[in-house]
Amino acid sequence: MSCIEQIGGVKLTELAREFGTPLYVYEIDKVDQRFNMIKDFGTIRYALKACSNISFLNHIRRLGAYVDCVSAGELKRAEKAGFQIGNGSHQVVFTCDIFDNQTLKIVSEKQIPVNVGSLDMIEQFGPVAKLKEITLRINPGFGHGHSQKTNTGGESSKHGIWHGDLSKAIELANKWSIKITGLHMHIGSGTDLKHLSEVCEKFIETARQIGPQLEMISAGGGLPIPYRETDQEIDLSGYKQLWWDVKAKLENDFKHSLRLETEPGRYLSAESGNLVSEVRAIKNQGSKKFALLDAGFSDLARPIMYGSYHPVAVCSQNKSSVMEDVVLAGPLCESGDVFTQKEGGYVETRNLPKLEIGDLVVLRNAGSYGAVMASNYNSRVLAPEIFVKDGKATLVRNRQSIESLIDLENLVDFNLS
Ligand code: LLP
Repeated sequence: MSCIEQIGGVKLTELAREFGTPLYVYEIDKVDQRFNMIKDFGTIRYALKACSNISFLNHIRRLGAYVDCVSAGELKRAEKAGFQIGNGSHQVVFTCDIFDNQTLKIVSEKQIPVNVGSLDMIEQFGPVAKLKEITLRINPGFGHGHSQKTNTGGESSKHGIWHGDLSKAIELANKWSIKITGLHMHIGSGTDLKHLSEVCEKFIETARQIGPQLEMISAGGGLPIPYRETDQEIDLSGYKQLWWDVKAKLENDFKHSLRLETEPGRYLSAESGNLVSEVRAIKNQGSKKFALLDAGFSDLARPIMYGSYHPVAVCSQNKSSVMEDVVLAGPLCESGDVFTQKEGGYVETRNLPKLEIGDLVVLRNAGSYGAVMASNYNSRVLAPEIFVKDGKATLVRNRQSIESLIDLENLVDFNLS
């Protein structure tokens, strides 16, 4: 479907008129649909790095999910969105491979559960820990990802405690009288069941080494969504069954029940998000036709970073039935600012209804790692975010002001030499 008139019952032309372009528009019903498909799994711990607008988090909280945070800033967002944070509550957990000084202080003082990804984190947490428990993020020695940059297991990944260092982690925890209450393996974004069953085997072996002190097991994140029109849906029942079997086996070993968690990011937020932009220039560069949009990789970085594919839909004024191959590019002063590219920077074309200046181009499935990875490159401001539901649009983040871009800077005169 490459033509589009409305999102969530709201006309695109009205959204563009009221809020300007570029803008992020989230269809909230899509979040609910995805949540309902996985809610029977166990605890749903949303990886809030995927889309962290506080209204989005508030919605996720009201659905019944918990959250995983990776920085002091994300902890603040979770708190603001109404999650119970600290005092040992498991609604908000901090996962990382390092503690920066500020976060270590916050986490220990507020007693926020931590999921540690390095031995050094245990050494640093031990002396200041008030909540005497941790969970371990283990790198099982292999991984999986939609790109080399999103593979989070194996020798080339910086994430997690290397599986061979598990006994050292247990020793360190004992040294500081810290209980290891959970085991976590996040092996990357994107998963197939054959690979997952290998992860599950490794998971059981690792959990047995830690023993019955475990109270929680986490499947990590990485539930994929179909980005391309031709991509298959994940076999959810196969995924659930594999992890339910892990839980049952370990509960049988340990003779007590375990909490099972999954940590989806994109599964809950990707399909709800759309980046809406306007065509501002059209030109032929030799044999290739370019449509230049008012959104660039400062708004959506996934194509330039990973060659990610986002479906495109067009809201055209003339409703032309003529189709054309076109490169979609942005306004930034950088050649790589192209939405239609493969990993490695190879520029591709997309077959779309003939575009004219003023037409709206919608990059779909942009709700995860979209607005959150935006930047101020070329001193461009962050786009606004809007929720749509039942034909109503609600602004949940204003467009950033140009003034705020220089707020943190001091204008200094140095002596000329
Ligand atoms: N849990 C942990 C510990 C993670 O590191 C991540 C993602 C997730 C959960 C959620 O993964 P998801 O379910 O969303 O695949 N910027 C990249 C993705 C980076 C993923 C980082 N970690 C992208 O745009 O695809």
